[in-house]
Amino acid sequence: MDLARNPSEPDGNPHLADAAPEPARPQIFRREDYRPFGWLVPRTQLHFDLSLDGTRVRSQLTLERNPDAAAEPGILLNGDGLTPLAVSVDGVPCRDWRMEGDDLRIPLVGDAHEVTIDTRLDPSANTQLMGLYASNGMLCTQCEAEGFRRITFFPDRPDVLSTYTVRLEASRGEFPVLLANGNPVEKGTLDGGRHYAVWHDPWPKPSYLFAVVAGDLVARRDRFTTMSGREVDLAIWVRAPDLARTAHAMDSLKRAMRWDEEVFGREYDLDQFNIVAVSDFNMGAMENKGLNIFNTKYVLADAETATDSDFDAIEAVIAHEYFHNWSGNRVTCRDWFQLSLKEGFTVLRDQLFSADMGSAAVKRIEEVRVLRSVQFPEDSGPLAHPIRPDTYREISNFYTATVYNKGAEVIRMVRTMIGPDAFRRGCDLYFDRHDGEAATCEDFVRAMEDASGADLSRFRLWYAQAGTPRVTISCRRTGGTLAVTVAQTVPPTPGQPVKQPMVVPLRVAVFSRESGRRGAEELLVTDRAEATFTLPPPEGDAVLSVNRGFTAPVIVQRAVAQEDLLFLARHDDDPFARSEAVQELVVGHLVGVVEGRLDTRSAAAGRDAIAQLFGAILSDARIDDLMRAELLTLPGETYLSEQVERADPQRIFDAREALKAHLGTVLWTAMAGTHARCAAAADGFDAPAKGGRRLRSLLLTFAAAARPGEGADLAWAQYQAATTMTDRQGALMVLAGLRHPTRTHALLDFYTRFRDNPLVIDKWFAIQAMSLHPEVTHHVEALAAHPAFSLANPNRVRALFMSFTTTAAGFHAADGSGYRLIADLVRRLDPVNPQTAARFVPQLGRWRRFEPGRAALMRAELERIVRTPGLSRDTAEQVDRALD
Ligand code: TRP
Ligand code: ZN
Repeated sequence: MDLARNPSEPDGNPHLADAAPEPARPQIFRREDYRPFGWLVPRTQLHFDLSLDGTRVRSQLTLERNPDAAAEPGILLNGDGLTPLAVSVDGVPCRDWRMEGDDLRIPLVGDAHEVTIDTRLDPSANTQLMGLYASNGMLCTQCEAEGFRRITFFPDRPDVLSTYTVRLEASRGEFPVLLANGNPVEKGTLDGGRHYAVWHDPWPKPSYLFAVVAGDLVARRDRFTTMSGREVDLAIWVRAPDLARTAHAMDSLKRAMRWDEEVFGREYDLDQFNIVAVSDFNMGAMENKGLNIFNTKYVLADAETATDSDFDAIEAVIAHEYFHNWSGNRVTCRDWFQLSLKEGFTVLRDQLFSADMGSAAVKRIEEVRVLRSVQFPEDSGPLAHPIRPDTYREISNFYTATVYNKGAEVIRMVRTMIGPDAFRRGCDLYFDRHDGEAATCEDFVRAMEDASGADLSRFRLWYAQAGTPRVTISCRRTGGTLAVTVAQTVPPTPGQPVKQPMVVPLRVAVFSRESGRRGAEELLVTDRAEATFTLPPPEGDAVLSVNRGFTAPVIVQRAVAQEDLLFLARHDDDPFARSEAVQELVVGHLVGVVEGRLDTRSAAAGRDAIAQLFGAILSDARIDDLMRAELLTLPGETYLSEQVERADPQRIFDAREALKAHLGTVLWTAMAGTHARCAAAADGFDAPAKGGRRLRSLLLTFAAAARPGEGADLAWAQYQAATTMTDRQGALMVLAGLRHPTRTHALLDFYTRFRDNPLVIDKWFAIQAMSLHPEVTHHVEALAAHPAFSLANPNRVRALFMSFTTTAAGFHAADGSGYRLIADLVRRLDPVNPQTAARFVPQLGRWRRFEPGRAALMRAELERIVRTPGLSRDTAEQVDRALD
């Protein structure tokens, strides 16, 4: 077909004449509608002629009718914003293709065909960062979930697996490095300063795992010998100036590869493993087969520019993407409703890995903190959905804390109930059974049942029901036994008004108050609305420790005496349960203050009890500084706002700050002593050094709340002496929240020092945007006009605006100015990058949780967004659900 017949031609194109009209109602995808695709695509050959603003793609598909599917008159290939320049079938130009919306229908009469399609793209105009796009002069792809259809027409669904051969051609000067999935097979020089490379991926994969990269990149190289003796070349590709900051990522990769062999028996399966870091990326990273693509944030680090948490996050994300090679790639998902099959499982795998690499206790406490501050609010709001959703309009909106983090908790519960050995056998069986297939969550659960003999039929409700179960526990001593009654309710969520009781595994233990001794741990598993268990009683008074290790993602409600919490906060040998007791004590006090339930005397008594406990924690020689810092971290404002009927963010903020100031005042001497001890500790990357850094920045926040002047002096001293970003950022965070002369000085110093490092400048934006400063909204408005700000870079957008959504004085300002700022952002960002824009909507979508004044202001902003003409499917879906 010649270009004169390009469908964009004005004089009426026959292919477009009867194109399906745009659907009037938004299209909704339903899990129950799954049907296998009509065709198999055993081979896919792609030829890219790459350039920044005009890339040509020729795709050659080998098609065979799928014997397991209903026969179709032709083939419908997905597209998104593409026009076919030429189509041929079995080498003969095809003229009777037609567009159905964005998709391409090609009539096919036989049972096997070769189809060739030419398309042309402009990567430099691709601001959505889905499909093929330009970033920092290089070209890269992001295909999950539905980006491949922005590159070429294809059955862009995860159950169509194909073997890919990819030929890349480009200017050698501009794009000296050409990468694709799999193994390299050939490369060479072409006329006119051009060159080419051919890659072949022997493992059949769905299109969402496809990737190419072209650019002027350098590599940190290493080697890995797998457990069966296969040699793998490892490479991390970055811009030349960033090379020195890739050592930690490479070490993390090798640790992850070894760990997956040792713990899950999973081995790598290609000759090469490539990682590329790009600075414009919608999410954290992507597990494309043999060619992982990463946000630079999760690759680049050295002590001067990255914090200890950055280092940990890099290790976890590198591992996460690597682990997908089995949980996601070798066994993939049948459809996007099964997303948690790969994501929940892979998050659990990366959590177990991180626990083995560092402090398992602290890791678990932090996982629960994230779950409670991000996933619980999601599960109690208008966007609540089961880990395996039943419907969606835009799948990008379902890459959520529910699918990822609650998904991981659900699989962890299986592991807890059947034990780690049976769990490992279940994983082996799942990988064996479904290798090379597109599987379902049901397949995973069945493998676990078959390997363990357990009956998980009722447990499957965790995949289907949304909402965080509320579990009430009470304990009664009758004669020689201790009766523990566990009752549960699961709250209604959108589309699920009535719930059934879930299977809830709770690890418990009983302590004797007198002796401090504890009885054996037991796992109580209930699947009823109410059940009573009997436990052997201790000598003397019983103190019950529940949900040890957080064995179930539930909210535990129990009437527990303050003295029991104080006992557990000092004596519980389960680190999670111990930290939980501290948190419960603090939450109980703060909620009491916020709700005005406490008279002056009992408020003072509560504060004193907490201060005494914190004093004991500060001097407890049995725990390390990392755990100490964990125990002394006050519950976050989001979590607190979930604990009250309708939250007033200012009251919550004030109560929390007042407690901080009180603790900083009465514990001044102890805290100053600990701060000095930590400040004198050696630098380094072992646990004591990391713990010391974490603790000394935490203590600064108490100091600043108690005595702002002295706190600022301490912070400024820490800033100036800092040799690590951990110390420098911790100090700057405190200064940024104070009205103090060193504030501006420090911010200016930080900017000039790091002006050439975008990841650190992101921190500079974020520190100011989430500061405790009363003028934070004005700061954010000014920063949005700063020459270093850009809507085109998601990291920068999140650094400024996502950080801002955590502020009581800013985002939740009583006059609605913070809500307006975020709604304006969504409206401006939506046409540029709808996926990133839609991620801001849930912050306003929580309106029902807030007092009527703020709720009305938030709603009004959602309504203003919904009236924006030409709103993307991503944002429209989120706003519609939030307003429902
Ligand atoms: N699968 C990726 C992960 O490891 C998630 C991801 C990366 C993604 N980029 C994306 C999802 C873009 C949607 C859109 O978790
Ligand atoms: Zn993932």
